[in-house]
Amino acid sequence: MSSTNEWLPAGPNVEAVRSQYADPLLALSQAEMPAIVLRQAYDPAHCQALMQRFINWGLIRDPLVKSADGRTRIDIGTSLGNRGHDQEAFLRHAVDTHQLFAHLFDGFVNPVQTMYDSLAALAVNKEVKTAREPDGRLYGPAIFRIHYETHSYKPHIDHVTLREKRFNYAVARFEHQFAGILCLQNASQGGRKAQTILHQCVWTPAVQPHIENETFPQYAAANNIGSYRVELAPGDLYFFNTRCIHEIPPLEGDDPRAVLAVFIGYSSDYDEIYVWA
Ligand SMILES: [Fe+2]
Repeated sequence: MSSTNEWLPAGPNVEAVRSQYADPLLALSQAEMPAIVLRQAYDPAHCQALMQRFINWGLIRDPLVKSADGRTRIDIGTSLGNRGHDQEAFLRHAVDTHQLFAHLFDGFVNPVQTMYDSLAALAVNKEVKTAREPDGRLYGPAIFRIHYETHSYKPHIDHVTLREKRFNYAVARFEHQFAGILCLQNASQGGRKAQTILHQCVWTPAVQPHIENETFPQYAAANNIGSYRVELAPGDLYFFNTRCIHEIPPLEGDDPRAVLAVFIGYSSDYDEIYVWA
Protein backbone atom coordinates (compact mmCIF):
# COMPACT_ATOMS: atom_id res chain seq x y z
CA MET A 1 0.00 0.00 0.00
CA SER A 2 1.32 3.44 -0.89
CA SER A 3 1.91 6.06 1.77
CA THR A 4 -0.70 8.65 2.68
CA ASN A 5 0.65 11.48 0.58
CA GLU A 6 0.69 9.42 -2.61
CA TRP A 7 -3.05 8.73 -2.69
CA LEU A 8 -4.04 11.88 -4.51
CA PRO A 9 -6.99 12.72 -6.75
CA ALA A 10 -6.87 12.97 -10.51
CA GLY A 11 -7.83 16.32 -12.02
CA PRO A 12 -8.48 19.20 -12.41
CA ASN A 13 -10.19 18.63 -15.78
CA VAL A 14 -10.99 15.78 -18.15
CA GLU A 15 -7.96 16.40 -20.39
CA ALA A 16 -5.56 16.26 -17.44
CA VAL A 17 -7.21 13.12 -16.06
CA ARG A 18 -7.04 11.40 -19.44
CA SER A 19 -3.33 12.20 -19.67
CA GLN A 20 -2.72 10.86 -16.12
CA TYR A 21 -4.72 7.64 -16.56
CA ALA A 22 -5.30 5.63 -19.75
CA ASP A 23 -8.62 4.42 -18.33
CA PRO A 24 -9.64 6.71 -15.44
CA LEU A 25 -12.82 4.83 -14.45
CA LEU A 26 -11.00 1.49 -14.42
CA ALA A 27 -8.41 3.11 -12.13
CA LEU A 28 -11.21 4.48 -9.92
CA SER A 29 -12.77 1.01 -9.71
CA GLN A 30 -9.43 -0.22 -8.30
CA ALA A 31 -9.29 2.76 -5.87
CA GLU A 32 -5.98 3.83 -7.39
CA MET A 33 -6.93 7.42 -6.55
CA PRO A 34 -9.35 8.80 -3.94
CA ALA A 35 -11.39 10.74 -6.48
CA ILE A 36 -11.52 12.35 -9.88
CA VAL A 37 -12.07 16.05 -9.28
CA LEU A 38 -13.19 18.32 -12.12
CA ARG A 39 -12.92 21.96 -11.12
CA GLN A 40 -15.54 24.37 -12.42
CA ALA A 41 -17.22 21.75 -14.57
CA TYR A 42 -20.44 23.80 -14.23
CA ASP A 43 -20.84 27.58 -14.21
CA PRO A 44 -21.12 28.77 -10.56
CA ALA A 45 -23.42 31.59 -11.69
CA HIS A 46 -25.85 28.94 -12.90
CA CYS A 47 -25.53 27.13 -9.53
CA GLN A 48 -26.80 30.24 -7.79
CA ALA A 49 -29.54 30.85 -10.32
CA LEU A 50 -30.75 27.26 -10.05
CA MET A 51 -30.96 27.50 -6.26
CA GLN A 52 -33.15 30.58 -6.69
CA ARG A 53 -35.32 28.73 -9.21
CA PHE A 54 -35.82 25.86 -6.75
CA ILE A 55 -37.08 28.42 -4.22
CA ASN A 56 -39.28 30.20 -6.80
CA TRP A 57 -40.83 26.92 -7.91
CA GLY A 58 -41.55 25.92 -4.32
CA LEU A 59 -39.27 22.88 -4.49
CA ILE A 60 -37.18 24.02 -1.53
CA ARG A 61 -37.82 26.62 1.09
CA ASP A 62 -36.22 30.04 1.29
CA PRO A 63 -33.85 29.98 4.27
CA LEU A 64 -34.60 33.70 4.78
CA VAL A 65 -38.33 33.11 5.24
CA LYS A 66 -39.69 31.56 8.42
CA SER A 67 -41.39 28.29 7.62
CA ALA A 68 -43.26 25.55 9.39
CA ASP A 69 -41.37 23.09 7.21
CA GLY A 70 -38.93 21.59 9.68
CA ARG A 71 -37.22 19.16 7.33
CA THR A 72 -33.44 19.39 7.61
CA ARG A 73 -32.92 17.71 4.25
CA ILE A 74 -34.95 18.11 1.08
CA ASP A 75 -34.46 15.92 -2.00
CA ILE A 76 -35.48 16.90 -5.51
CA GLY A 77 -35.52 13.61 -7.36
CA THR A 78 -36.09 9.89 -6.86
CA SER A 79 -33.79 7.97 -4.54
CA LEU A 80 -33.38 4.21 -4.93
CA GLY A 81 -32.00 4.09 -1.39
CA ASN A 82 -35.13 5.69 0.06
CA ARG A 83 -37.80 4.27 -2.26
CA GLY A 84 -36.34 1.01 -3.56
CA HIS A 85 -38.26 -1.15 -1.09
CA ASP A 86 -41.34 -0.72 -3.37
CA GLN A 87 -40.14 -1.16 -6.95
CA GLU A 88 -43.41 -0.13 -8.64
CA ALA A 89 -43.74 3.04 -6.57
CA PHE A 90 -40.05 3.83 -7.10
CA LEU A 91 -40.36 3.56 -10.91
CA ARG A 92 -43.60 5.61 -10.92
CA HIS A 93 -41.91 8.33 -8.86
CA ALA A 94 -39.01 8.35 -11.33
CA VAL A 95 -41.44 9.16 -14.18
CA ASP A 96 -42.43 12.36 -12.34
CA THR A 97 -38.78 13.26 -11.81
CA HIS A 98 -38.05 12.88 -15.53
CA GLN A 99 -41.00 15.19 -16.29
CA LEU A 100 -39.82 17.77 -13.76
CA PHE A 101 -36.21 17.66 -14.95
CA ALA A 102 -37.34 18.13 -18.58
CA HIS A 103 -38.08 21.80 -17.77
CA LEU A 104 -36.32 22.50 -14.48
CA PHE A 105 -33.16 23.80 -16.16
CA ASP A 106 -34.73 25.78 -19.01
CA GLY A 107 -32.55 28.81 -19.74
CA PHE A 108 -29.52 27.31 -17.96
CA VAL A 109 -26.94 24.69 -18.76
CA ASN A 110 -28.49 21.37 -17.68
CA PRO A 111 -26.31 20.21 -14.74
CA VAL A 112 -27.52 16.62 -15.08
CA GLN A 113 -26.23 16.66 -18.65
CA THR A 114 -22.93 18.12 -17.39
CA MET A 115 -22.68 15.18 -14.97
CA TYR A 116 -23.39 12.59 -17.69
CA ASP A 117 -21.14 14.30 -20.26
CA SER A 118 -18.24 14.47 -17.79
CA LEU A 119 -18.63 10.79 -17.00
CA ALA A 120 -18.84 9.91 -20.69
CA ALA A 121 -15.66 11.91 -21.36
CA LEU A 122 -13.84 9.83 -18.72
CA ALA A 123 -15.18 6.50 -19.98
CA VAL A 124 -13.22 4.38 -22.47
CA ASN A 125 -15.40 2.49 -24.96
CA LYS A 126 -18.45 2.54 -22.70
CA GLU A 127 -21.85 4.13 -23.08
CA VAL A 128 -23.30 6.19 -20.20
CA LYS A 129 -27.05 5.72 -19.70
CA THR A 130 -29.70 6.36 -17.10
CA ALA A 131 -30.23 3.08 -15.24
CA ARG A 132 -33.24 1.08 -16.42
CA GLU A 133 -35.01 -2.16 -15.76
CA PRO A 134 -35.03 -4.79 -18.56
CA ASP A 135 -38.50 -3.57 -19.65
CA GLY A 136 -37.03 -0.08 -20.27
CA ARG A 137 -38.47 1.71 -17.26
CA LEU A 138 -36.01 4.36 -16.08
CA TYR A 139 -34.67 5.12 -12.62
CA GLY A 140 -34.38 8.73 -11.49
CA PRO A 141 -31.51 10.30 -13.49
CA ALA A 142 -29.92 12.27 -10.60
CA ILE A 143 -30.99 13.93 -7.35
CA PHE A 144 -30.57 17.32 -5.75
CA ARG A 145 -29.92 17.11 -2.02
CA ILE A 146 -30.35 20.24 0.07
CA HIS A 147 -29.17 20.10 3.68
CA TYR A 148 -30.51 22.89 5.90
CA GLU A 149 -28.47 21.98 8.93
CA THR A 150 -25.04 20.56 9.32
CA HIS A 151 -25.43 16.85 9.15
CA SER A 152 -22.50 14.51 9.51
CA TYR A 153 -22.36 10.95 8.20
CA LYS A 154 -20.27 8.36 10.02
CA PRO A 155 -17.81 6.16 8.12
CA HIS A 156 -19.78 4.00 5.68
CA ILE A 157 -19.95 2.66 2.14
CA ASP A 158 -22.70 2.85 -0.47
CA HIS A 159 -23.28 -0.24 -2.57
CA VAL A 160 -26.52 -1.66 -3.96
CA THR A 161 -25.58 -5.26 -3.22
CA LEU A 162 -22.69 -5.21 -0.73
CA ARG A 163 -24.49 -2.90 1.68
CA GLU A 164 -28.13 -2.55 0.67
CA LYS A 165 -28.61 -6.15 -0.49
CA ARG A 166 -30.93 -5.10 -3.30
CA PHE A 167 -30.68 -7.94 -5.79
CA ASN A 168 -34.01 -7.28 -7.54
CA TYR A 169 -32.77 -4.30 -9.58
CA ALA A 170 -30.87 -4.21 -12.87
CA VAL A 171 -28.08 -2.16 -11.25
CA ALA A 172 -27.25 -5.13 -8.99
CA ARG A 173 -25.21 -6.65 -11.84
CA PHE A 174 -22.46 -4.01 -11.62
CA GLU A 175 -19.43 -4.95 -9.60
CA HIS A 176 -18.38 -1.40 -8.83
CA GLN A 177 -20.34 1.61 -7.69
CA PHE A 178 -19.19 5.22 -7.87
CA ALA A 179 -20.81 8.46 -6.79
CA GLY A 180 -20.76 11.72 -8.72
CA ILE A 181 -21.27 14.93 -6.73
CA LEU A 182 -21.63 18.43 -8.17
CA CYS A 183 -21.44 21.21 -5.57
CA LEU A 184 -24.16 23.86 -6.04
CA GLN A 185 -23.80 25.69 -2.75
CA ASN A 186 -21.69 25.32 0.39
CA ALA A 187 -22.85 25.88 3.95
CA SER A 188 -20.67 28.98 4.07
CA GLN A 189 -19.63 31.25 1.24
CA GLY A 190 -16.20 31.80 -0.23
CA GLY A 191 -13.55 29.36 -1.43
CA ARG A 192 -13.56 25.58 -1.30
CA LYS A 193 -15.26 23.79 1.59
CA ALA A 194 -14.97 20.25 2.88
CA GLN A 195 -17.43 17.75 1.43
CA THR A 196 -16.23 14.25 2.23
CA ILE A 197 -13.30 12.43 3.79
CA LEU A 198 -12.33 9.41 1.69
CA HIS A 199 -10.31 6.64 3.32
CA GLN A 200 -7.83 4.50 1.42
CA CYS A 201 -9.70 1.40 2.48
CA VAL A 202 -11.94 -0.66 0.23
CA TRP A 203 -14.72 -2.34 2.19
CA THR A 204 -14.35 -6.04 2.93
CA PRO A 205 -16.27 -8.17 5.43
CA ALA A 206 -13.24 -7.85 7.73
CA VAL A 207 -13.78 -4.08 8.00
CA GLN A 208 -17.51 -4.37 8.73
CA PRO A 209 -17.19 -4.80 12.52
CA HIS A 210 -15.33 -1.48 12.66
CA ILE A 211 -18.17 0.21 10.76
CA GLU A 212 -20.81 -1.34 12.98
CA ASN A 213 -19.00 -0.69 16.26
CA GLU A 214 -17.90 2.79 15.16
CA THR A 215 -14.26 1.92 15.74
CA PHE A 216 -13.12 2.71 12.19
CA PRO A 217 -10.98 5.72 13.26
CA GLN A 218 -8.95 3.50 15.61
CA TYR A 219 -8.70 0.77 12.96
CA ALA A 220 -7.51 3.32 10.39
CA ALA A 221 -4.89 4.73 12.75
CA ALA A 222 -3.62 1.28 13.73
CA ASN A 223 -3.28 0.25 10.10
CA ASN A 224 -1.85 3.51 8.75
CA ILE A 225 -4.80 3.97 6.40
CA GLY A 226 -4.46 7.19 4.47
CA SER A 227 -7.28 9.53 3.65
CA TYR A 228 -8.10 12.46 1.41
CA ARG A 229 -10.42 15.33 2.19
CA VAL A 230 -12.41 16.56 -0.82
CA GLU A 231 -13.01 20.30 -0.81
CA LEU A 232 -15.24 21.90 -3.39
CA ALA A 233 -16.42 25.28 -4.56
CA PRO A 234 -19.76 25.70 -6.34
CA GLY A 235 -19.43 24.30 -9.88
CA ASP A 236 -16.80 21.68 -8.88
CA LEU A 237 -17.64 18.04 -9.58
CA TYR A 238 -16.05 14.86 -8.27
CA PHE A 239 -16.41 11.13 -8.69
CA PHE A 240 -15.37 8.58 -6.08
CA ASN A 241 -15.58 4.85 -5.46
CA THR A 242 -18.33 4.39 -2.87
CA ARG A 243 -16.79 1.10 -1.72
CA CYS A 244 -14.03 3.19 -0.15
CA ILE A 245 -14.97 3.95 3.45
CA HIS A 246 -16.05 7.59 3.53
CA GLU A 247 -17.60 10.05 5.93
CA ILE A 248 -18.91 13.61 6.02
CA PRO A 249 -17.63 15.71 8.89
CA PRO A 250 -19.86 18.29 10.61
CA LEU A 251 -19.70 21.43 8.49
CA GLU A 252 -19.71 25.06 9.53
CA GLY A 253 -22.02 27.69 8.17
CA ASP A 254 -25.69 28.71 8.06
CA ASP A 255 -26.52 28.43 4.38
CA PRO A 256 -28.18 25.29 3.07
CA ARG A 257 -25.61 22.98 1.49
CA ALA A 258 -26.76 21.78 -1.92
CA VAL A 259 -25.37 19.15 -4.27
CA LEU A 260 -26.45 17.29 -7.37
CA ALA A 261 -25.68 13.60 -6.78
CA VAL A 262 -25.70 10.37 -8.77
CA PHE A 263 -24.68 6.80 -8.29
CA ILE A 264 -22.88 5.00 -11.08
CA GLY A 265 -22.70 1.29 -11.86
CA TYR A 266 -19.46 0.15 -13.52
CA SER A 267 -17.98 -3.19 -14.49
CA SER A 268 -14.86 -3.50 -16.63
CA ASP A 269 -16.50 -6.19 -18.77
CA TYR A 270 -19.81 -4.35 -19.45
CA ASP A 271 -19.98 -1.81 -22.26
CA GLU A 272 -22.69 0.19 -20.48
CA ILE A 273 -22.36 2.44 -17.46
CA TYR A 274 -25.65 2.98 -15.58
CA VAL A 275 -26.40 6.21 -13.72
CA TRP A 276 -29.15 6.67 -11.12
CA ALA A 277 -29.94 8.40 -7.86
FE1 LIG B 1 -22.02 7.78 1.13
